[in-house]
Amino acid sequence: MKAITWVSTKVVLLDQTLLPTQEVYLDITDYEELALAIENMLIRGAPAIGAAAAYGVALGANQIAATSKEAFLEKLKVVSDRLAGTRPTAVNLFWALERMDMVARLGDSVDEIKKALVVEACRIDADGEAANRRMGNYGADLIKDGYTVLTHCNAGALATEGYGTALGVIRAAVEQGKNVRVYADETRPLLQGARLTAWELVKDGIDVTLITDNMAGHFLKSGAIDCVVVGADRIAANGDVANKIGTYGVAVLAKENNVPFYVAAPISTVDMSLASGEQIPIEERKPEEVTHIKGVQIAPDGVKVANPAFDVTPNKYVTAIITENGIASNPYVENLDRVVKNR
Ligand code: MRU
Repeated sequence: MKAITWVSTKVVLLDQTLLPTQEVYLDITDYEELALAIENMLIRGAPAIGAAAAYGVALGANQIAATSKEAFLEKLKVVSDRLAGTRPTAVNLFWALERMDMVARLGDSVDEIKKALVVEACRIDADGEAANRRMGNYGADLIKDGYTVLTHCNAGALATEGYGTALGVIRAAVEQGKNVRVYADETRPLLQGARLTAWELVKDGIDVTLITDNMAGHFLKSGAIDCVVVGADRIAANGDVANKIGTYGVAVLAKENNVPFYVAAPISTVDMSLASGEQIPIEERKPEEVTHIKGVQIAPDGVKVANPAFDVTPNKYVTAIITENGIASNPYVENLDRVVKNR
């Protein structure tokens, strides 16, 4: 299951807005089209957005006619800035653009740089999937045979370069022969849990039960859930975690009911430049995502709407952060730094 791939000279992308009823793959050759695909969430999920942005730079580079390196880099900056403006919260986007920028600066000729950018984007993609598998193996140690795991949003193959972060942990536990059940929050407003997590897990034959967001507290209190595993869009140096709106509520309810709350994310999601989660920019999306479901109006015309796409869970609610380099727990200021630097 791949959300995005590079094939010869183009990007092939699974349109996630049409799931679970239609599985449509789009061929993209224009970076502006790719930027729109990120904005409109045809591709979404922090690591997948990072890979998509890298491929967007590779596409944009191939669209530039300039022959001198200086003129080429100037035009490439326009491409990079456009992609950087698509979504503000997932730091993987900016991390990937920075990596692509470094590669562009290193090359000598324009032709050489164009080739190197394709190679680098494919490397970001492949390295990301490999990291998720390593992360899965670390995380699977926390999942015991017979566990029921609650997850929120979609942190699976669709949200990443493959395999998944939170769902990667679950997949690795299942691959180890453990009997694991999943409860998936539907995740309003855009229903990533219902449309995407449930789709991935049903496809893989993993036991999944779909619940609406307001049922999570009930199941955490009743003892039905052994642990929570979610992904992340940006993690501050102190271990505060930005993830899909609703994650914070789940974390507080998990702590109240003594259920461990785990976050699975690659180190490219950790933003060591931010001391705390208060500095993480939270994307506000359009009101129609709240007033409508799949084009059907569910609220009166003229009602005021708030639609923050993410919230920040303070580190005190996070039992551990699972990365491809190992697992960090409190005090995060020291332990996350050690894991990120692989010390
Ligand atoms: O708005 P989205 O669908 O891009 O948000 C995605 C999430 O919040 C995921 O939980 C997060 O990116 C982790 S994905 C591995």
